[in-house]
Amino acid sequence: MNEEFKVTPWDVTGKVDYAKLIEEFGTEPIDEGILTRWKRITGSIPMALQRKIFFSHRDLNWILDRYEQGEKFVLYTGRGPSGHTHIGHLMPWMFTKYLQDTFDAPLYFQMTDDEKFLYKDSLSLKEAMAFSYENALDVIALGFDPKKTYIFSDLEYNKTLYRIAVQVAKRITFSTAKAVFGFDSSTNIGLIFFTSMQSAPAFLPSVQAGKNVPVLIPHAIDQDPHFRVTRDVAPKLGYYKPAAIHCTFLPSLAGSDKMSASRPETTIYTTDDVKVARKKILGAFTGGRVSVEEQKKLGGVPGVCAVFQYYYYLFEEDGAKLKERERKCMSGEIMCGECKLDLADRVASFLERHQEKREKAGDRIKDFVVSDYSAAYDRLKRPQDRKEVAKLKRTMKEYYSVKEGDSIRINRTRDLE
Ligand code: TYM
Repeated sequence: MNEEFKVTPWDVTGKVDYAKLIEEFGTEPIDEGILTRWKRITGSIPMALQRKIFFSHRDLNWILDRYEQGEKFVLYTGRGPSGHTHIGHLMPWMFTKYLQDTFDAPLYFQMTDDEKFLYKDSLSLKEAMAFSYENALDVIALGFDPKKTYIFSDLEYNKTLYRIAVQVAKRITFSTAKAVFGFDSSTNIGLIFFTSMQSAPAFLPSVQAGKNVPVLIPHAIDQDPHFRVTRDVAPKLGYYKPAAIHCTFLPSLAGSDKMSASRPETTIYTTDDVKVARKKILGAFTGGRVSVEEQKKLGGVPGVCAVFQYYYYLFEEDGAKLKERERKCMSGEIMCGECKLDLADRVASFLERHQEKREKAGDRIKDFVVSDYSAAYDRLKRPQDRKEVAKLKRTMKEYYSVKEGDSIRINRTRDLE
């Protein structure tokens, strides 16, 4: 791994050189050939591809070949629920929504509450499950089609996933896990197994259909190590290798590194009070000069400015307007204060709209969630200690917001062997 920056599924630090990452990870760049093909098939090129926000892939041409031959693909993405959703997470999810609409594709959305419990010392199982629910509200608020979207948490869909996960786990050696993820003898054994849980949904559509189904996984590049392993194992189990499309990271408001939940002051959460979000933006790092005079004379530096990045990634869709903002900044015609205020307004109105939809999503959760447990908690009745059963029921109700009597789809999966 390169010394100036680090990208793993659990840690991203330093200024990421994405071209180097393509080499190190062995992925393919999204080039002009793919963009031309995309336009031919779909009629247009979305902003995220035009701007190279989605910049890399694995087997994208293969999935487009299959699509053109009439074989529909399934989308798979997810979230590790260790806290509230931030707007960086929304980037791959918004693109996934675009893909669902454009290719009429079902979506499997995994909440890896097990992973986050295993990874974060301070996170309890209850909290991880609570965040699965909270994060699911954000996913639903983005407007996915309830008839084609299946959201599940590993702790709730474990029976279905485990049967696939053990098949995967049997084909991964500890030495591969160490080489890919940097594990050592102090790593807890849950985390070592975990990658097979993240692999499982890539094969679930094939298991359910009883035949091979192509799967495309949109995500930021940090998750690629998991899917390298998944792809290695796929042919050994007789499945297609999942294809993937990778995005870069929305930076933090400090301008460097990715936006990360561990630094709340430089992170915009979807649940942030609008006033708090404004304050964070007004405190953002910019490419401004030390004084107004100097800025007028020398201009700003949008290339290092967090505020400009936010326009680029999410808050200025119009390419001509973005260019004009860049020009004005570099020529000293616009000051950082004005740029920040404008961005704060845009973020505030985005948050207001999102929060309204998020609020309503609570009533729709059961249209999206798939679980192995019936709402009557049949499966939880097994422990003999009645107090324990009562406690479990309370926890589930409290944190998963499923009331007794609610109907939840229970998907049954064919055994693999
Ligand atoms: P998690 O919760 O770290 O991140 C969720 C998704 O958001 C992407 N991401 C970002 N994208 C843009 N800018 C950022 N600053 C940023 N930070 C995170 C992540 O790459 C991810 O796509 N183990 C996974 C959960 C998971 C998953 C999956 C993700 C399970 N199955 C399949 C992608 C695809 C996790 O902890 O993601």
